[in-house]
Amino acid sequence: MSKVTVVGAGNVGATVANVLAHKDIVNEVVLLDIKGDFAKGKALDTWQQAPVDYYSTKVVGTGDYKDTAKSDIVVITAGIPRKPGMSRDDLISTNAKIVVSVTQSILKHSKNPIFIIVSNPLDVMAYAALKASGLDSKRVIGMAGILDTARYRAFLATELGVSPKDIQAVLMGGHGDTMVPLPRFTTVAGIPVTDMIAKGKLNAIVNRTKKGGGELVKLMGTSAWYAPGAAAAQMVESIIKDDGRIFPCSVWLEGEYGIKNMFLGVPVQLGKEGIKKILTLKLNATEKKMLKTSAKHVRAVIDSFKKMKLIPASKKKPAKKKSTRARKK
Ligand code: NAI
Ligand code: 2OP
Repeated sequence: MSKVTVVGAGNVGATVANVLAHKDIVNEVVLLDIKGDFAKGKALDTWQQAPVDYYSTKVVGTGDYKDTAKSDIVVITAGIPRKPGMSRDDLISTNAKIVVSVTQSILKHSKNPIFIIVSNPLDVMAYAALKASGLDSKRVIGMAGILDTARYRAFLATELGVSPKDIQAVLMGGHGDTMVPLPRFTTVAGIPVTDMIAKGKLNAIVNRTKKGGGELVKLMGTSAWYAPGAAAAQMVESIIKDDGRIFPCSVWLEGEYGIKNMFLGVPVQLGKEGIKKILTLKLNATEKKMLKTSAKHVRAVIDSFKKMKLIPASKKKPAKKKSTRARKK
């Protein structure tokens, strides 16, 4: 028996609900939006797709948090997306308030859910949700790395004329232009990508990946939703199935990679408790430097969030008991 709530029934949230319903792995998906009828409409549309596409997951829409009671997993997509010319960081003043209030409203009806954060600026909104919730840090996870890696893998597949299924890659860092795709950890059916593509072409793909979100904003006037929605649904699936899969996700770091007290994208193993394990790769000096630069950028936006003073003082202090999160030494 599992119940998933998706907050925000816009482009990304409705896609998460729709993809999840197609996976047919949870009993119920509740789609909640401040525009309750809009959420009801999107949910009804997805439910009416069930007889055609053959799934049983019940999808209901609402504007009332009572309907989210006893959710196992909550995906937060509420907030504004960027428009052409905006950076993800420009969204903070609006989205921080939304993410904090959504987190608090959810916890009135669900005691210990796992949160998957999607709203931007991603790493900072994950930080906001953790601080607003007071939950164990392994239960608050940001979605970005799966999407950014998917973009990188798709570009490589096009360039090499191979199936995207055969490209495996790791991408770390913040969800922004300072993200760190790692060619040294990229393979094509097990073959190092560096053996299959000229350096200049690979660099161009890395750079296109870093600006991948902006490319779509320019094309559509708003940000992407199919790949982001599918990526968040994949995280839900892996948590529900507890199948030991490894993905890059934005997680709370406590010294891994020399970084602490912030969210940043790193490879993690997901499981029924949220984050099962953080994997620590042996990065070379250049990769470490790029990761530090990315962390510095995210840290500056976290500082802006702190200045907003949205979290009551009692919630600010970390719980006395040490996080039970497992770590790979
Ligand atoms: P959208 O505008 O289509 O949908 C957002 C929805 O949130 C709207 O339906 C709105 O009514 C709802 N909403 C606003 N305030 C709310 C509140 N207080 N409670 C409940 N619902 C509320 O936007 P879209 O395209 O779905 O993007 C959503 C967010 O996800 C944006 O911040 C965007 O930047 C981010 N995003 C993040 C990605 C990532 O990789 N982490 C990828 C794509 C988008
Ligand atoms: C993206 O990368 C906007 O973060 C969103 O598409």
